[in-house]
Amino acid sequence: MAERIESAGKIQHPLAVTRTELVWEGKYDSAGNRVAPLRVVLPFQTVETVNESAAARRHTLELFGQHRQTEWRNRLIWGDKKYVLPSLLAEFAGKVNLIYIDPPFDTGADFSFTASVPNRPDDEEDDATSFTKEPSIIEHKAYRDTWGRGLDSYLQWFYETVVLLHELLHETGSLYVHLDWHVAHYAKIVLDEIFGKENFRNEIIWKRTTSRAGSESYNHIHDTLLFFTKSENYPWAVQYTNYSDDYIENSFRNTDADGRRYRETPLTAPGLRSGYSGKAWRKCDPSKIGNGRHWAIPGYMNAHLSKAAQANSILALEELEKMGRVLWAREGEGRPNFKQYVEDLKGVELQSIWNDFGALSSASQESLSYPTQKPEALLQRIITASSDEGDLLLDCFCGSGTSAAVAEKLKRRWITCDLGRFAIHTARKRLLGIPGVRPFIVQNLGKYERQLWQQQEFQGSARASRASVSAPLTESGNVPRGAEHDTRGAYAPQANFAAEARQRDYVHFILGLYQAKPLNGYSWLHGVKGGRMVHVGAVDAPVSVGDVAQIAAEFKRAIGTGKDAPKTNGVDLLGWDFAFEMNEVAKQQAAAANIQVRFLRIPHDAMDKRAVEQGDIHFFELAALSVDTKSDKREVTLKLSDFVIPPDDVPEDVRRTVKHWSQWIDYWAVDWDNKGDTFHNEWQTYRTRKEPKLDLETRHTYDAPGEYTVVVKVIDILGNDTTKTVKVKVK
Ligand SMILES: C[S@@+](CC[C@H](N)C(=O)[O-])C[C@H]1O[C@@H](n2cnc3c(N)ncnc32)[C@H](O)[C@@H]1O
Repeated sequence: MAERIESAGKIQHPLAVTRTELVWEGKYDSAGNRVAPLRVVLPFQTVETVNESAAARRHTLELFGQHRQTEWRNRLIWGDKKYVLPSLLAEFAGKVNLIYIDPPFDTGADFSFTASVPNRPDDEEDDATSFTKEPSIIEHKAYRDTWGRGLDSYLQWFYETVVLLHELLHETGSLYVHLDWHVAHYAKIVLDEIFGKENFRNEIIWKRTTSRAGSESYNHIHDTLLFFTKSENYPWAVQYTNYSDDYIENSFRNTDADGRRYRETPLTAPGLRSGYSGKAWRKCDPSKIGNGRHWAIPGYMNAHLSKAAQANSILALEELEKMGRVLWAREGEGRPNFKQYVEDLKGVELQSIWNDFGALSSASQESLSYPTQKPEALLQRIITASSDEGDLLLDCFCGSGTSAAVAEKLKRRWITCDLGRFAIHTARKRLLGIPGVRPFIVQNLGKYERQLWQQQEFQGSARASRASVSAPLTESGNVPRGAEHDTRGAYAPQANFAAEARQRDYVHFILGLYQAKPLNGYSWLHGVKGGRMVHVGAVDAPVSVGDVAQIAAEFKRAIGTGKDAPKTNGVDLLGWDFAFEMNEVAKQQAAAANIQVRFLRIPHDAMDKRAVEQGDIHFFELAALSVDTKSDKREVTLKLSDFVIPPDDVPEDVRRTVKHWSQWIDYWAVDWDNKGDTFHNEWQTYRTRKEPKLDLETRHTYDAPGEYTVVVKVIDILGNDTTKTVKVKVK
């Protein structure tokens, strides 16, 4: 309807019409200003490298050390597009060549998935027990962000997405938005506004399912893809589809002895020529036909002709004759024709209705049981038509990873993200299954997203006075490391007090969620619950073995001191993240100090106000993994020996079907020489529908003797990962 007009300092109401546009509740604020997308830039954390050779890894480290550009790596990012897209802008504004998005739709099904417990993994006919994993609270939140206020919030959410995608797109880039009849028409108007309606190329109708009976109206059997480009200059490679059976039957009426269908087409075209194409061949002079013609050899036959024949029609005719491609009305006489087979032609140029393949069935070879998975044929078409090898593709609703997998196969670069943990796991497995897959990295915004939440949520300023800072938080590992400085680098005590107060608010908040009582006078012990002491991990660093040592030391000092002294020897450590080596090393260390520790993960949902209000926050103990190793000279054999997962959201009846701990494991990977940095996935094995069996043992031969740190990562059937670190010595 309207665009805001400013005149003589006055802001007119948005409904003062100046141009046609779609307006929804929330598009403008009360002052008439357009509500812009969140533009917070968070750094990405690489949590895993996949398929990277040891040599490539060394090379990357060298380049990094010299502050030089490291080699390109495709990126699988776990995170909400509302943080991921603005964070990509710094590096990729104007650099993405092709964007395909298949945004979630108005159904919770976009976030739920089917998890399966393999029952007889040794058997190809494994009858896995499947159950629907309902959306997590964080996924529910994304769903509410999108649909909380119905169409209005969807449109604002969609608008914000498209504004950022437009900025990321290269001047010659293309965008495909995959929708259906529910919102496609609204989306078209939003896209027109951002891309300009002159850059709308097509509305593609994809017939995804066959006719159905029993409807009270016309059945919806198609999806809609809206194709926009950033400018009128864009790559385009014509795509073809097969001829219909009717067309072939009617047009290619003859059949060869070997069953191939063909038809006769002229070998001449109108017009006189002076070169070889105008000369007589055998008993036929083309210049004498009608008003004068010349030889016209079909261009697609060049691939089968010699170099000389490609430049000389008479030689070409000789070669075609030898191939049996020249047809005469009478043996060697009259006017020759060309024998054209159906296969000679590329097919019909693809139009805007695509009906030559439908949605995937659950029985399809390609199916990964991801409810909204799209067929690779669809993406193959889009990527081939609108990009070249080496181009960069972006999909911020990765799902099962169809676009990334096809981009990988077609040698495009790719970046894809999804906020669902299971989506990321499904996509990783899928990509690993592609023969010769190039190394890629798995990233998230982890601690940065939490820092942002802490800053926004806990202002701390109200209590930022010296008097209010009673506990010596600055000594604890939880206080932001290093004092806060003002912009010139000078120490700023006020800022420090604010940070401390913010920190305390944060700790109290988490203690509240855990239903623990806050304690005063300690640095590392923050609360107490059921007689057990409680420590709250920082938002921006994993709980480490060093932290456990500090907690143990403080615990020892606290015994028998006053009313807040520990009543049992139990300590609960609440953390967002845990250092690799945590479980066993830290537990041993704590046990040596006669403390019984439990590690509990602070759920991501703690950042969601609504989940907090509903009291839906559950802290689960870390899964526990046991690994045995055996060394023989340079060779190390590693075997998984136990795995216990927290009760999480597996229904009780499904739990009862599990007879062996290994049934919980979907995937595991090993980094044979971890240097305390990212997990480098150097070997992995996983279950697939075709091969549900999982090896529990692997071997590795080291090049040189020494002591190595091995990190094992296990991903369970719900997509959660657990790591374990072991040291091995080889001679
Ligand atoms: C329709 S599915 C995509 C399916 C995908 N094209 C495929 O072939 O598998 C939509 C995906 O978007 C994800 N999603 C929803 N909201 C999101 C958000 N705000 N940020 C990132 N991903 C989101 C969902 O987890 C879901 O996997």
